[in-house]
Amino acid sequence: MNFTVIERVGKKAKILDQTQLPTRVVYNEYGDYRDIMQSIKKLEIRGAPAIGIAGAFAVAVAAEIDVNMEVGQYKIILSQVAEEIKNVRPTAVNLGWGVDRIVKVIEDYKGDNMDELRGFIWDEAGAILDEDRILCDKIGENGAALINDGDTILTHCNAGALATGGIGTALAVIYTAKNQGKKISVYADETRPLLQGARLTSWELMKEGIDVTLICDNMAAMVMRQGKIDKVIVGTDRVAKNGDVANKIGTYGVAVLAKEHNVPFYVALPYSTFDNNIPTGDDIPIEERDPSEITNWGGVQTAPDGVKVYSPAFDITPRELVTAYITDKGVTPGGRGE
Ligand code: MRU
Repeated sequence: MNFTVIERVGKKAKILDQTQLPTRVVYNEYGDYRDIMQSIKKLEIRGAPAIGIAGAFAVAVAAEIDVNMEVGQYKIILSQVAEEIKNVRPTAVNLGWGVDRIVKVIEDYKGDNMDELRGFIWDEAGAILDEDRILCDKIGENGAALINDGDTILTHCNAGALATGGIGTALAVIYTAKNQGKKISVYADETRPLLQGARLTSWELMKEGIDVTLICDNMAAMVMRQGKIDKVIVGTDRVAKNGDVANKIGTYGVAVLAKEHNVPFYVALPYSTFDNNIPTGDDIPIEERDPSEITNWGGVQTAPDGVKVYSPAFDITPRELVTAYITDKGVTPGGRGE
């Protein structure tokens, strides 16, 4: 990949602004954690692992504030800021997970040197990014073993390099299979309303020389019935203890279709996306987005003034519809019983 979604630049975080893709590659540098919170909210940086990294970087940026107080007081303030950052987007467990790793560094620090503490915080944020790169590679290796030469894979939303610190989760499987010499084709759902599939997945796959065909979300049923799809692979924002999967709105429908057409449905994720504190998918908080994301596109109004809108950003796919989970540790069967 010749881009990074986030990196440290001095006391700031540099973020690839994904709202500008595919037409413009723009990076923003943020030296105020509140701007990073906005960046996460606006989906400049998005995808569960990437927002976990961004959350950690946001606390590191916040820690750079010049203050005149005791380290103890400073630690309390940073913990409050961390809590704010965790709540920006509720569905992906990775955001809280990334921030909590930094909070632990803050809580464990017993010294009285703020600069030393700042250094430890940046080290941990950097470690989260580096680890994610390795996790993605492992997911790719484990998943590629399931892929046959000549497979056509359907994916929904973007679970690629743009969503992580490495080569992605669902797309890592595709990149790794291709590197093993397998010929792979991809169908990318456009992913209404914010078009992560059209804008982001097709962009990054084309850059990597992968054969990709873009379809509207409502075409997935037809291409499966036509026998064009061998496998579905998606990412996830959180997997509950019972194996239910939260992912981008529309994923559940794709899983139902996959079962109906006897197409395996795989979910790719790092260990940090499992949430054993949440019993079932019904307990996963689902983010609701601003209605304007549905009633307008590109500054053009596409629905009547005052229309009622319901805009959940994610849905739940029950474990029974999952063929297997592809993780950094291996492949675990889901509940489809194949
Ligand atoms: O709203 P987004 O773009 O952050 O949603 C992203 C997804 O749903 C991804 O599939 C998920 O986070 C997994 S990314 C490896």
